[in-house]
Amino acid sequence: MRAIVIEQYGVLPTVQEVAAPEPQAGGVVLKVEATGLCRSDWHGWQGHDSDIVLPHVPGHELAGTIAAVGAGVTGWQVGDRVTTPFICACGTCEQCREGNHQVCPNQLQPGFNYWGSFAEYVALPYAEVNLIRLPESLDFDTAAGLGCRFATSFRAIRQVGKVRAGENVVIFGCGGVGLSAVMIAAALDARVIAVDTNPEALKLARTYGAAHTVQASTYGAADTGHASTYGAADAGQASPDVVREILDLTGGGAQVTMDALGSNELVQQALRSLRPRGRHLQVGLLPSGVQLDVSRLIGQELEWLGSHGMPAHAYPEMLDLVASGNLNPADLITNRITLEQAPAALAALTTATPAGVTVIHP
Ligand SMILES: NC(=O)c1ccc[n+]([C@@H]2O[C@H](COP(=O)([O-])OP(=O)(O)OC[C@H]3O[C@@H](n4cnc5c(N)ncnc54)[C@H](O)[C@@H]3O)[C@@H](O)[C@H]2O)c1
Ligand SMILES: [Zn+2]
Ligand SMILES: [Zn+2]
Repeated sequence: MRAIVIEQYGVLPTVQEVAAPEPQAGGVVLKVEATGLCRSDWHGWQGHDSDIVLPHVPGHELAGTIAAVGAGVTGWQVGDRVTTPFICACGTCEQCREGNHQVCPNQLQPGFNYWGSFAEYVALPYAEVNLIRLPESLDFDTAAGLGCRFATSFRAIRQVGKVRAGENVVIFGCGGVGLSAVMIAAALDARVIAVDTNPEALKLARTYGAAHTVQASTYGAADTGHASTYGAADAGQASPDVVREILDLTGGGAQVTMDALGSNELVQQALRSLRPRGRHLQVGLLPSGVQLDVSRLIGQELEWLGSHGMPAHAYPEMLDLVASGNLNPADLITNRITLEQAPAALAALTTATPAGVTVIHP
């Protein structure tokens, strides 16, 4: 099969002919119909994920058709249209038994622990725990996004952040995660403020329901994983204009902020944009760590909430909101590309993100 192969971190990957995966006991092999380009793929390519072994095939935000079923799998057949949370949980450990599949210690992640979906076929373990049947009305491009960024934002906003109607919610970074969060928080009748450097992304944020947009300057790069950038901006230097604008717009600070890029600078801005007892959602990855003004966390009783993917059992509520038209993840997709175009698109994330979500058709 054809797949994108990373031979060396940070070196442009290539399309290669590799062996197709075989279904493992309890798992399936999917023909990949669509796979999203997420910044986590970029982190993996940059060498920020210690689980990755080279050579490696990235890709974890996927939807497809079952091509082969492994021994012991019941309820799933060749030809079924499915997606899966990128966190493929075991379903039997203590965390899974309590419903917390998103932190399963036995989890496997395509595109990280093993070869992923930037390929014609991908293997998925623990099929009975994780596979999600796609309604006929849901196309593969849209369904791919439900495998990672849209679902991650749904859980972050709804289940972890517990966003309520009327609350001010500030989304820092309006790429795949951020725009999904804008749409989801707006659907919950929150007052959403979207922050980005890219005016095109802010335009999209408005169409997805942001009440206000704030144009950031260009200095806030994604965490590159190099120690030299650690602490590049301390709390005192965090883009004073963005923070001041948010404090003005919210009459003294937001109830909820989200870092949807993964940037120490944006974390500083977010924490200073919260009102007392505010909740900060951390979804963006920070491989070099982050500076936290802990005195402020204590004195203002701020909450720091990490959020990781979403378990398969939580999908029905989200799928119902999609079916009823209250959430429209299809609108987020702006670019459709081939496998051959994917390496350049991955590399482009080093300096910028095109507005909206990019989907690859292997
Ligand atoms: N926690 C999880 O389970 C989970 C799941 C998916 C993705 N992620 C992580 O979430 C992060 C976002 O992923 P993505 O695919 O949405 O990224 P993306 O590249 O699509 O979006 C990032 C956005 O940030 C904007 N940005 C850049 N500098 C900025 C600044 N100074 N101020 C405001 N905005 C700025 C970019 O213009 C872009 O729109 C990544 O770190 C990714 O690895 C985490
Ligand atoms: Zn992802
Ligand atoms: Zn488990």
